[in-house]
Parts: sequence; structure tokens; C-alpha cells
Amino acid sequence: MSQERSDTLVLFGATGDLAHKKIFPALYAMVAKGTLTEPVIGVAFDPWDVKQLQARARDGIVNALGGIDEKVFAKLASLLRYVSGDYKDPGTFEKLKSALGTAQRPLHYMAVPPNMFEMVVQGLEQSGTAHGARLMVEKPFGHDLQSARWLNRVLHLVFDEQSIFRIDHYLGKEAIQNLLYFRFANSFLEPIWNRNFVESVQITMAEDFGVEGRGRFYDEVGCIRDVIENHLLNILLLLAMEPPVGRSADDLIDEKVQVLRAIRTLTKDDVVRGQFKGYLQEPGVAPNSPVETFAAVRFFVDTWRWQDVPFFIRAGKNMPVHVTEVVVRLKRPPLDVFDPIKPADQNYVRFRIDPQVMIAIGAQRKAPGDDMIGEQVELTALDSSKSDMPPYERLIGDAMNGNGQLFTRQDAAELAWRIVGPVLGDATPPHLYEPKTWGPAVAMAGFGPPNGWIDPAK
Ligand code: BG6
Repeated sequence: MSQERSDTLVLFGATGDLAHKKIFPALYAMVAKGTLTEPVIGVAFDPWDVKQLQARARDGIVNALGGIDEKVFAKLASLLRYVSGDYKDPGTFEKLKSALGTAQRPLHYMAVPPNMFEMVVQGLEQSGTAHGARLMVEKPFGHDLQSARWLNRVLHLVFDEQSIFRIDHYLGKEAIQNLLYFRFANSFLEPIWNRNFVESVQITMAEDFGVEGRGRFYDEVGCIRDVIENHLLNILLLLAMEPPVGRSADDLIDEKVQVLRAIRTLTKDDVVRGQFKGYLQEPGVAPNSPVETFAAVRFFVDTWRWQDVPFFIRAGKNMPVHVTEVVVRLKRPPLDVFDPIKPADQNYVRFRIDPQVMIAIGAQRKAPGDDMIGEQVELTALDSSKSDMPPYERLIGDAMNGNGQLFTRQDAAELAWRIVGPVLGDATPPHLYEPKTWGPAVAMAGFGPPNGWIDPAK
């Protein structure tokens, strides 16, 4: 497939939650910047007309952005079309075909549950609307290694790998782009970025809310499948990878895949699972559900650079704060020349991903006064407000342009499932925790990086 831009965006699941919350606001932002001028065909089961889709889009945009520029919205509304129908019905795809008109290179975006992927892809093929097209696929990409392999086979029957764009919206975040940039655009980091100087890496994704009406979805996935296997593992890859040898999408992805290949398959000892008290009362959650709403996981990357350095990830719902960040903690100096450095005061590099983009270095300096006593300071390298390009805007634009750099390739998708496979489901018991705490305290005692977890709230 050439790098030619897609000439139509087809949005399956156009009446759904994701389209409402994320996709329409992203399309609106693209229209505002002039980066989207192509028709957008919404497809869904609901027997709506285009006016209803426009109203839904407007509602999503106002909710997300707190206001709307009528001129911009009018442009977006003029690009919208709507095809209503059942994905089982070939007639739906015939309607899509006529809505596509003379389009040669549509981008089909599947914002639908994975159990519909096969049906949609087959409908596209049988109607001839897959020809020359690209396919964008929402997460979750499978449920485990076997289902991911099966999904890949289903997609590959119709689309080649170059035309498939598997989304992980984390990769579209400004802060994640910055992490990658900071690592490879600064020479001072490279000499210390290895097992000789790094003691541990910890990645925390804390959300201070529960499952927010998504109980039915959440109860089928749980924390490890929802955010660790994809978003947070991707952060680990960017931290651990070698510099790419070139600038193509494959150059970057090849390096990430090398890390995935080197990550040890997890065992039950590498995980603590937790469930917040009250989860079972959430609508859509099974009685006695063993699904975890918190998990802490230890990874090892068996490479020359990272041998024996523990990489910890913890993520949870109903935590005390809402923050996602990485802390790379360095080893202590070999000798205490002055006062002993407390374990909590070792040097570190902090990458904050959410709620603000921040890169900081934790260092020791002398506290003012007579004695040679130190104090911890944080040198904030960057602290900016929210990105002006939200992830969905970046990723839809990239997929329309055929740029796969920020998407998950088939081999990466399968390797990630290989790593987490043994700790999925009820492999270990979930321990209850109080809402607004850092997970199950007793089970977490002693589980974490040497010298402990860093509290991002402090
Ligand atoms: C989604 C998960 O992929 O990411 C959610 O399904 C989670 O459970 C969300 O809340 C977090 O994304 P963000 O961009 O809001 O940090």
C-alpha cells in the first residue's frame, strides 16, 4: 500500500461511547486545523439519520471541550454521512459501498467490540469495500495469545499488515512522545541508562475513580488486560528499547519488539492482584467476580542493558490520586561522603504522563546551614499544560496518512500476550482493598521496587 492519504473515513460504531467521547472531538479538532477535509461515514445498527448523528457528535464535542465553534462544527457536519444497518446483513455493506461513491482508499475504523471484527471485515471484503482500504482496530486486541492470533488471521485474510492500524491510544499521547524524544535526543542519559546505574523502574497508573458504568466491559477484562498488557507495557518498551536505526515505522517497532522478545514470561510470583471493596455491587459485574481492579506486576528484561533490573508496573481503579508516571530510580553513590543518603532520596528521573506532561530529575543538594546535610530537590525539565493534540487526533491523522509508527504491529500484539498469559484471569487470588488506597496493603507488603514505591501524590 502506498503512503497516499485515505480519501474517506468510515467509522463503524459511530453511535457508540468511544465515538461520542473521543472520536468526534478528535475529528472536530482536525477540522478546526484543516487536517480533515474528507467525508466521514458513520456506520452503526441504530436506525438514525445523519441529523441524529450530527446531534450526537455535537453533544460529544461540547462535553469534551466545554464549547463549540459553530463554523467549525458546520464544516464537520457537512462531512458526515450515516449508514444504518446490521453488520450481519450484506445490505449494510452495499449501502456503505454506495455512500463511498468514488472513494478509492477508505480508512475503515472499527470502534466496535472485538467479537464484531470478523463480521465487519468479511462484510467489507464481500462488498468490495476493503479494496485499496486501510483498517484501524480498537483495543482490546484479543483476550489472550490464542485469540490475538486468531484475530490476526481473520484480519490478514482481507488486509495486509501494512494496512492494519491497531490502536493503543497511549502511544498518541504527547507525554509518551516526549519520553521517546527525551531518551534519544539527550546524550547525558545514555551512559546511565542501564543496569550499572539504574536500580529499578516503576510505572504507576492510578485512577481515582471506579469503573464508571463500564462494569460489564470491565468485568470481562480486568486491570491487566485493560491497561497493563497494552498502555503500560508500551511505556516500558519505550524506556527499555535501544535507539532505532532509522526513522521508518518499522525501525521503531523493531526495537520495541526486541524488548518484548527479551521480557520474561510472567509467573504467579510476579503479580499481586486486588479488587476494591464495592466492585461486586457495580452494575454489570458478576456476583463473586474474581476480576482485578488493581494489579502490581514485576517484569525482567533479559538483555545486556537491563539484566536483573526490576521493572514494576502498578495500576488501579479507586486509587488515592489520578496520575500516571514513570520513575527510573538510580543506584546510590558508592560512598556517603557527607551525611548518608536516605533510600527515598536516591537520584531518579521522573516522567509524568498524566495529568500533566512533566520530566523531572530528583537530586541531592546541600541544605542551607552550617552542616553538610543534604536535601532532595526536583529539577523540573519540562512542565507544560495539556497537549494541543489529543491522542485520537494524532492517531486518526496518522492512520489516514498510512503512518504506522504509533500503532501495534502483529508480532508485538502477540508477544505482549505471551508475556502476561500466565497471570491472566484468576491465576492468583484478588485481595480486597479499601477504595482510595494504594491497593491491598497486606499483599503488597514487600512487593515492589527495592526501597519501595514512590508516592506520586507527594
Ligand atoms: C482505557 C481503559 O484504555 O484507558 C480505561 O479502558 C482507562 O479503563 C483509560 O481509564 C485511561 O486512559 P487515559 O487516556 O484517560 O489515561
